[in-house]
Amino acid sequence: MLSLEMLVQEIDSVPPLPTTVTRALQVIEDRESSAKELAKVLAEDQSITATLLKYANSAYYGVSRTVSTVSEATVILGFTTIRSMLLTASVHKLVNREISGYALAQGELWKHSIQCAMVAKNLAKKCKFPQVEQAFVAGLIHDIGKVVLNNYVGAQYREIISTVEQEHIPFMEAEKQILGFNHAEVGARLALKWNLPEDLVDAIAHHHSPRGSERNSKLTALVHVADAICLMLGFGLGSDGLLYPLDEAVLDMVGLTVELIEEAMVEVQELPEFDI
Ligand SMILES: [Fe+2]
Ligand SMILES: [Fe+2]
Repeated sequence: MLSLEMLVQEIDSVPPLPTTVTRALQVIEDRESSAKELAKVLAEDQSITATLLKYANSAYYGVSRTVSTVSEATVILGFTTIRSMLLTASVHKLVNREISGYALAQGELWKHSIQCAMVAKNLAKKCKFPQVEQAFVAGLIHDIGKVVLNNYVGAQYREIISTVEQEHIPFMEAEKQILGFNHAEVGARLALKWNLPEDLVDAIAHHHSPRGSERNSKLTALVHVADAICLMLGFGLGSDGLLYPLDEAVLDMVGLTVELIEEAMVEVQELPEFDI
């Protein structure tokens, strides 16, 4: 079984978020800060600058003239979009690999994460959840613990799967039984280490058990439902999808109806280009 010490070591081996990203996220969280302060931090990193300008100049934002400075781009995109962009770029680097412990080929965890992020954002709009961008980010990082536990799950894969089959319990319960931890708990610890807001830490920790949410239970429920939709549609159907229980009681709580869920399933689009 994985001891807490081994786990901490494993979490420490995951690269931290780049310094510029961490500092920018702090500026964004601080309600007092200005666009000028954020632009100053972002401008220190060349690749972030390039990505920001590319986003700000994309047709999506409908700007008729060329945006050429980080300050302008910061104003056009806004704090929440920039936060999603920074985290998307960082998470992409981390999860766009083979996660063999969870039977996910290279790119599959990325695809699952970004699809879940988009579905969570869409559901958030449908049920008028006020922080749609927060739902996007929570969907994006909910399975980040798999990156940490990958090797441990891989080594005990047979045992975990036979526990699922024999005891008819979901993958993540078997994961906890055999390893002592599951990817939701471990992901939450990683998010804490990255200094992400507590609502996000909570959503990661309880994405498979939304009734256990201790902070923003609606955010957690949105991620839970978005995750289930992605698994039903076959996005990222690794071993995590085995006996995945959708907690239907949370639908009411978050204000989602079966019709809205069906709508969201139809609206799942093909993956956009994320060349970041
Ligand atoms: Fe998960
Ligand atoms: Fe997931």
